[in-house]
Amino acid sequence: MIIREFKRQDIKRVLEIENRSFKDPYPPKILIDIFNLGAGFLVAQEDNIVVGYIIFWIRFEEEGHIISIAVDDEYRRKSVGTLLVETALKIFKRYNVNLIKLEVRVSNDGAIKFYNEMGFNKKEILKKYYEDFEDAVLMEMDLDTELE
Ligand SMILES: CC(C)(COP(=O)(O)OP(=O)(O)OC[C@H]1O[C@@H](n2cnc3c(N)ncnc32)[C@H](O)[C@@H]1OP(=O)(O)O)[C@@H](O)C(=O)NCCC(=O)NCCS
Repeated sequence: MIIREFKRQDIKRVLEIENRSFKDPYPPKILIDIFNLGAGFLVAQEDNIVVGYIIFWIRFEEEGHIISIAVDDEYRRKSVGTLLVETALKIFKRYNVNLIKLEVRVSNDGAIKFYNEMGFNKKEILKKYYEDFEDAVLMEMDLDTELE
C-alpha cells in the first residue's frame, strides 16, 4: 500500500469510489476545480489500483479542513483511511496548521467512529448543512495535542 499524490489519470477511479461511497457525490468538475485550486489530494494505491483518496486544504492560513475521504468498499477496515488521514495530518503539520476541521453527516455513524478513533472530537451540530437538509457534525482536532 502506498500513499501518493493524485494524478489526473486517477480521476476515473476516484469518481468510481466517490460515487459508490456517497449518496450526494461531488460532481467531477467540482473535484477537478478543487484540485486545480491547489487543494491537497492524495490517493492510496494497492497493486496498481487506486483504493481510496483524501482531499484537504488550508483555509484562513492556520486552519486545515478535510473536504472528502473515501475508501473503496472492498478495502475498508484495513487501515487505508487511517493512513490517508495520518499522511494529510503530517502535511498540515509541515505547514504549521494545527487546527483541523471537518463536517460529517449525523447519520454517518461509521465515519464518526472512524474520526473519533483518529482523534477528532465532536464540536457542534450544523443544522441543515447538506442539500437534503441533513445536519452535519462539526469535528475538530488540535494537532498540537494529538501528535508528538
Ligand atoms: C470512513 C472511511 C473513509 C474509513 O476508512 P477505512 O479504511 O475503512 O478506515 P480504517 O480501516 O482506517 O478504520 C480505522 C478505525 O476506525 C473505525 N471505523 C472505521 N470504519 C468504521 C465503521 N464503518 N464503523 C465503525 N467503526 C469504524 C474502527 O475503529 C477502525 O478500526 P478497526 O477496523 O480496527 O476496528 C470509509 O468507511 C469510507 O470510505 N466510508 C464512506 C465514505 C465516508 O463516509 N467518508 C467520510 C465522509 S465525511
